[in-house]
Amino acid sequence: MNFLSSVFFGVKAEGFVKGVQSTLDNISNQNGIFTGDNLITFGRNLGFFEDEKFVQAWRGMVETPVEEAIVWRLHTLAWAARSVIARGIPGDFVECACYKGGTAKLIADYTDFKDQADRTYYLYDLFEHEPGMPHHSMPEHSKQLYQRVQQRFADMPNVRVTQGAVPQVLHEVAPQQVAFMHIDLNNAPAEIGALEVLFDRVSPGGILVLDDYGWLGYRAQKLAEDPWLAARGYHVLELPTGQGLVFK
Ligand SMILES: C[S@@+](CC[C@H](N)C(=O)[O-])C[C@H]1O[C@@H](n2cnc3c(N)ncnc32)[C@H](O)[C@@H]1O
Repeated sequence: MNFLSSVFFGVKAEGFVKGVQSTLDNISNQNGIFTGDNLITFGRNLGFFEDEKFVQAWRGMVETPVEEAIVWRLHTLAWAARSVIARGIPGDFVECACYKGGTAKLIADYTDFKDQADRTYYLYDLFEHEPGMPHHSMPEHSKQLYQRVQQRFADMPNVRVTQGAVPQVLHEVAPQQVAFMHIDLNNAPAEIGALEVLFDRVSPGGILVLDDYGWLGYRAQKLAEDPWLAARGYHVLELPTGQGLVFK
């Protein structure tokens, strides 16, 4: 099994892809190669591609080349969500922030979340962008996106989509107990704000994934999160995907 995506960030695309191709041509075993999302690995099992349910959920949510390329990150999240359910860790699921809801859809499909009668999946986002707002604009930010994301989960009554600014909105709508939390705000003060409200509510054995933790372009988040978590006795595992992983 190989996975070859040409989606890389911060490169001169044409020359970089030619260079990668030349590198791949010199690998003895032409199996187990992964390229994309700033990862080039070879000689790997890539076992998540053998997980048919994961592949089906991933294929079902992919709308763009980037969503396809971040499959290893998505596997990390799917693994975390599945693990807390399998181990019976009590609490709800949280994503700050969900943008189009693609990642949450994959996780919900993969874990059959609609059958998790005692859990709610809390999704937050601003969904819109106006000049002057501190968050990055994304291609599909619009007045309609909130409604579109609500519709995406119309058949899952235990998924709750909330429009508003994190952390302020968490004082109005938030779970009391959390089993799995994905923070992906691309904004250090907002991420620390989310942790301030929610980290104490994460159950023992719960899992926190910080999407941007290992990415140099978002280093401000790591610099804010490391001391905040260390002060509470936690240290982040930087994954090759660029995500940060914390067990409560
Ligand atoms: C990279 S996107 C999230 C992608 C999403 N986690 C996924 O996997 O598809 C970052 C999102 O954070 C949202 N955002 C940034 N700052 C925010 C804040 N303070 N409160 C709520 N949402 C925020 C943006 O609107 C944007 O949609």
